[in-house]
Amino acid sequence: MQVPEARVEWEFYAMKRILSGIQPSGKLHLGNYFGMMKPMLELQKEGQVFLFIADYHALTTVSNAEALRQGVLDVALDFLAFGLDTERTIFYRQSDIHEVTELTWLLSVITPMGLLERCHSYKDKVAKGLPATHGLFSYPVLMAADIIIMQSEVVPVGRDQKQHVEVTRDLALKFNNLYGEVFTVPEPSIRDEVAVVPGVDGQKMSKSYNNTVEIFGNPKEARQKIMRIVTDSKSVEDAKDPDECNVFALYKLFATDEQREAMAERYRAGGLGYGDVKKELYEMFDAHFAPYREKRAELQNDLGYVQSVLKDGAERARAEASKTLKAARKAVGLA
Ligand code: TRP
Repeated sequence: MQVPEARVEWEFYAMKRILSGIQPSGKLHLGNYFGMMKPMLELQKEGQVFLFIADYHALTTVSNAEALRQGVLDVALDFLAFGLDTERTIFYRQSDIHEVTELTWLLSVITPMGLLERCHSYKDKVAKGLPATHGLFSYPVLMAADIIIMQSEVVPVGRDQKQHVEVTRDLALKFNNLYGEVFTVPEPSIRDEVAVVPGVDGQKMSKSYNNTVEIFGNPKEARQKIMRIVTDSKSVEDAKDPDECNVFALYKLFATDEQREAMAERYRAGGLGYGDVKKELYEMFDAHFAPYREKRAELQNDLGYVQSVLKDGAERARAEASKTLKAARKAVGLA
């Protein structure tokens, strides 16, 4: 099947229905921020955004009720601290939309085993030692239901999730072929410039690699982690290649174009120590998140408001979801 190239032109998004979700399975970090949160915050102006906290998905790896509840609250606080526009954007908790699990079943019965067996994410997780449960295996079907139930057109994701959006397309097309045009067939959208945010060890930043810098963690800890970012062993005098450096890769995410170019020049000229760049990176990190940290602290004292936002989001999301589910039930002969 032909999958369209991921696109980032703004006109592509114009007034489209854009959906993405994030798992509440730990404190959010720079990889989450640049890869998912920041793009979604920007896309709010471009179309109808659906944004949700994927707590059903998190159950595949989190088995502590309190940790799950805390994780959901953390994601909600983080997004609200960043100024999510809850009027425009439909922001909700996945498990408030029970319809998603029913649609998952309707999709499961047409999902070829082979399609799931080919999914890298499942294989990677099992290779990392996660128990090979049925839930973990059928994770992409639940994700397809998330996307399809809102009739989403564009799904901004990181590179690692592209295959899951392709599975979603396959399932939507197959359902439509069997039962008639019920579902919108979505397209993935991947931003190359932030597709991979390196962690402090140079691998992709990910909670499961234990190499993250948390956005709203203890600033002292963030500083220590930044100072420990792995570099090569060139001495201060040596000329350096910015494009080979993990510190620079993170620096440029915060920098303006001019700052980035100026820093690249200093790398190439020699006389710049990695320790100095790390200090500058920390300063930028701190300055960037300081105002949001304050906002987040305020919200923490107003959890009733946070809950009311999620409740409102759930109502709006369910209105959409129940329409799609009703049509799907009718199409397969359940109603
Ligand atoms: N699997 C995604 C991740 O781990 C989270 C997710 C769940 C998602 N459902 C989704 C993303 C639907 C986009 C669309 O990053």
